[in-house]
Amino acid sequence: MDTEHPLTGGNATDTVVRIGTTVRKPWTPKTPLVHAFVQHVRGGGVDAPAVLGRDEQGRQILEFVPGSEPEVLSSEDLHRVGRIVRGIHDAAATFPFRTTDASDVLLPAPEAPELICHGDLTPWNLVVGDRWVFIDWDGAGPSTRLWDLAYSASAFTLNEPAQEPEEAAARLTAFVAGYGAEGRMRALLPAAMAQRTQAMLRMLQRAHGRGEEPWASMYVEGHGAHWRAVSEYVRAHEAVWRDALR
Ligand SMILES: Nc1ncnc2c1ncn2[C@@H]1O[C@H](COP(=O)(O)OP(=O)(O)O)[C@@H](O)[C@H]1O
Ligand SMILES: [Mg+2]
Repeated sequence: MDTEHPLTGGNATDTVVRIGTTVRKPWTPKTPLVHAFVQHVRGGGVDAPAVLGRDEQGRQILEFVPGSEPEVLSSEDLHRVGRIVRGIHDAAATFPFRTTDASDVLLPAPEAPELICHGDLTPWNLVVGDRWVFIDWDGAGPSTRLWDLAYSASAFTLNEPAQEPEEAAARLTAFVAGYGAEGRMRALLPAAMAQRTQAMLRMLQRAHGRGEEPWASMYVEGHGAHWRAVSEYVRAHEAVWRDALR
């Protein structure tokens, strides 16, 4: 008998389990697109969980990647993660897509999407072990490098509003250097991070107002307060981020 072990690290899915060296996750109408996308970026040299098909219960079968969520990341670690994000964008850029793909995304996509992005390249979707691998590709959809990087960089470096802005700015600089962002992107990033964290708060507020789960509960269980604090922090210190990235 293959034993099912619940995997509880995620927010949005309470039905993720491990069986042996595989993960099983619900199959959605978007899954074929997501799997094609993951196979494409893997073919481009990105380390992502292998997609292994569909089980007898209709669930996704994915490779289980051993490791754990990162705890404290040094500047070198953040540089490394920034470089991984860049590798994902570069590999994704050659994946053909339509702007109507994956229209069930929670957050409004940028107006002129350039490529399919993971959308949630955050510490809570990074497995750190012998390999450093982003998991949870189900939210992938049309976006822009800037919008995806804004969320990733703020989640990895500006997610603790108690942190001194100068320290956070140094972490942000390491991450963005790892990405290899050029001048234009560096100039646009501070405002994009403020917009992206604000969008997260608005999404949770809207879901709460409409009773859409699991976000409605997440909103009252601390995520609302967290994203309010983070979006205020990112907005309040925009000039610090801008100076650090110049
Ligand atoms: N391929 C994988 N390898 C290792 N652990 C995984 C994998 N996929 C999911 N997990 C574990 O299960 C948790 C929930 O899965 P995830 O795909 O992130 O779902 P959610 O959409 O709920 O965030 C993750 O935080 C992680 O701990
Ligand atoms: Mg997750």
